[in-house]
Amino acid sequence: MLNIESVTKKYHNGREEVLAVDNVSLLCNEGDYLAIVGHSGAGKSTLLHIMGGLDLPTRGKVLFKGTDVYRLRDSNLSLWRSQTVGFVFQFYHLIEELNVLENVAIASFLRGERKSSLKRAQELLEYLGIAKRKNFFPSQLSGGERQKVAFARALINDPQVLLCDEPTGNLDKDSQNVVVGLLEQLNTEQRKTVIIVTHNLELAQKAKRIVNIKEGQIGS
Ligand SMILES: Nc1ncnc2c1ncn2[C@@H]1O[C@H](COP(=O)(O)OP(=O)(O)O)[C@@H](O)[C@H]1O
Ligand SMILES: [Mg+2]
Repeated sequence: MLNIESVTKKYHNGREEVLAVDNVSLLCNEGDYLAIVGHSGAGKSTLLHIMGGLDLPTRGKVLFKGTDVYRLRDSNLSLWRSQTVGFVFQFYHLIEELNVLENVAIASFLRGERKSSLKRAQELLEYLGIAKRKNFFPSQLSGGERQKVAFARALINDPQVLLCDEPTGNLDKDSQNVVVGLLEQLNTEQRKTVIIVTHNLELAQKAKRIVNIKEGQIGS
């Protein structure tokens, strides 16, 4: 379903060139739960962003069901991303000025009806067991609660693929376990294709498949 073909990403820091992702090919099938594991600086976040249409690779292709996503026009790429991919980040990236319900619903306001967006946001918060916090602001939530809100937000447009960058990176043990359970639930119950990147082996071991990344290269 998501086919990464010979992807390379170079960054330029002043005169220095950084090869963040080095000729990576990876095939992810529908229903997969894949963990990409590596140390800090290995290229995990860069690769995840490229997979989700957030960052143009220097070379190579990202094919989703045969469509070369970086050959879409900008507006179609944004549309593809909003309909197909949900992102969850280590530091949540919630909007501090919006309450929980609005944070979850906002990505679907852009698609039209405010009322139905809020209804779906409410349902997701209930599904994730955090609806009682719907009028709270992010600063009033614990880390685990924030991450649940971030999951709800990622799911608002019912994406086929969920991409998570160190989703437990900033959480205590109990909240980590909640996220582990949630990832499994979304993969099995909701049939989401789940891809996580992490340096946490314990988390990775819950996935159906693990690949390692080191210095931008995928190994076994
Ligand atoms: N925007 C950027 N500009 C320059 N270098 C970057 C940028 N983003 C990442 N890098 C470099 O690319 C390498 C991989 O980074 P990253 O993908 O964030 O790794 P990881 O997520 O595994 O810690 C690192 O050496 C990092 O410094
Ligand atoms: Mg990272």
